Amino acid sequence: MCGIVGYIGNPERTIGVLLNGLKSLEYRGYDSAGICVVSEGERNTVRSEGKLENLKIKIEDKQITAPTGIGHTRWATHGKPTENNAHPHSCGPVSIVHNGIIENYSDLKEELSARGHEFYSDTDTEVLAHLIEEQYEDGVLLEEAVLKGFERVEGSYAVAVLSENEPDKIVALRKFSPLVIAESENEKFIASDVPAILPYSKNIIFLEDGDIAVITSGSIKIYNYSGQEIKRDKKLINWDPVMIEKAGYRHYMLKEIHEQPRAILDTIRGRFSESEFTVEFEELLKFNSKDISKILILGCGTSYHASLIGKYLIESIAGISTEVDLSSEFRYRDNVIDDKTLILSISQSGETADTSEALIAAKEQGAVTIGLTNVEMSKIAREADFTVYTKAGPEIGVASTKAFTTQIITIYMMAVYLAIKRKKIDKDLSKDLIRSLISLPKLMQVALELDSSIKVLAKEFHTYKNFIYLGRGINYPVALEGSLKLKEISYIHAEGYAAGEMKHGPIALIDENMPVVLIAPKHGNYFQKIMGNFQEIKARGGRIIVVTSDSSFQNQLGKDDRIILIPECSELLSPLVTVIPLQFLAYHIANLLGTDIDQPRNLAKVVTVE
Ligand code: M6R
Repeated sequence: MCGIVGYIGNPERTIGVLLNGLKSLEYRGYDSAGICVVSEGERNTVRSEGKLENLKIKIEDKQITAPTGIGHTRWATHGKPTENNAHPHSCGPVSIVHNGIIENYSDLKEELSARGHEFYSDTDTEVLAHLIEEQYEDGVLLEEAVLKGFERVEGSYAVAVLSENEPDKIVALRKFSPLVIAESENEKFIASDVPAILPYSKNIIFLEDGDIAVITSGSIKIYNYSGQEIKRDKKLINWDPVMIEKAGYRHYMLKEIHEQPRAILDTIRGRFSESEFTVEFEELLKFNSKDISKILILGCGTSYHASLIGKYLIESIAGISTEVDLSSEFRYRDNVIDDKTLILSISQSGETADTSEALIAAKEQGAVTIGLTNVEMSKIAREADFTVYTKAGPEIGVASTKAFTTQIITIYMMAVYLAIKRKKIDKDLSKDLIRSLISLPKLMQVALELDSSIKVLAKEFHTYKNFIYLGRGINYPVALEGSLKLKEISYIHAEGYAAGEMKHGPIALIDENMPVVLIAPKHGNYFQKIMGNFQEIKARGGRIIVVTSDSSFQNQLGKDDRIILIPECSELLSPLVTVIPLQFLAYHIANLLGTDIDQPRNLAKVVTVE
């Protein structure tokens, strides 16, 4: 959470680069923002409560130019989202921006207070400014003061520090929170994440835990905490800056929903052979799938829902016993895993603390780990024994959409890969599975055409205060995902249930004020059962939106019920089609309610706190 930027270069460009960088990092937090710039003998700090727009308005009045600057967009952990708590925080000549949490900040604050330091904010970050200032005596360089100041700091951090006394310098360091650096002619850039610097350079240096970078207009030097200089290679990131724009869509979320067939194609490209009917994962060459007796999939939020679908896929295709756990739950319970357990950690950002810490804990217990993520060089990518990337491209909207579908398709391919490796399926079956895979992007494209009809449907339903989503089998997690989408962007209360569970309690909620979204693609066993659930809801006066591939369902509907017709598709891949109308429904309802769709209240795209 929180986004950091830094810049050294053209004084006329500093403010623009900082604000643009913060704009593209706003998904990391958006409750307050600030910048601090320095030039010879002058330091200017501007901070503001609320969205970045407020900060921009404040800065516009000031005509600031300076060659060096840092900026921050905040997701509050310690202290309310007020201007006073907004970063950068300063003490003496030092100013700092910070992403992460300082766990021992209250002890450190107490000690500093006893030594006469006075604090103006409620943040943990201000403590860091005081610790550095205390070490920053005459003749000491900023990087030396930073290193000394951080000696007793515990927790996670990525920070950028500047000083009025050394205006051509930014010191950046990281532990457990991401930080990237890049340069172009006469300019240096620092950021929490690649999108903030992609418009200026695609050659990115990824700092590692324990790195401290000293950046001046003339050089970028990286040291370890013992002060030895180290080399970090630049990595070419092939994301196009255009990918992080809205491309004419009103919101990133809508753009990202529509990008799904393309994201699926990019993710499956090069992984399967159409002539041999095989699936390949080069990154798993050294992974011995035969030694595995059990798979445990870990994830949070939408990635957890993809994990639940993963269980169906792996058990059904590869026949390997698979469990799923919320990353936040796994870590703190006694779990039974060993070196025959494969941990599959799923995370769009690759930075979710609950998931990365769970992965590390499982690794310590001897499990083999695979990270499935969308972000190169992210923490999970670095910590896992093996890393498989989805190719969704940057996902900016806080509500996850294309990450979900690319995660599912990757697990599907992994299940086929494991099944072939373990000789669980014959050629004919792998042929069928791969044919279904190939036909999927077109089916998703057909589902995307539902956009305008669901916009109309949303008008009828946006005033309801509660919703229930029901699904069965592999579409039960889609019910969870549909309800999560609705609640996170529209703030409407929504519950997802396995349809078979209705009669065990939730059915008591059904009346004419409770719309029920029923996910009912026409597949074998489940279809008849879900028809039964449909009748149960009708008998209790519920209003139904049914998502189905069976047009004859129409004949069963009452006058207030609605049908969303989706294309037919293989059962195992149906979640990738059924979820699309649910994404649209949440989007259009939220749009009608006027919420902040790409940056819903209280949330952040990357959750780096446990
Ligand atoms: O980056 P991750 O996939 O690890 O993120 C996990 C969740 O925080 C995320 O899916 C969250 O639930 C989304 N806002 C859902 O739309």
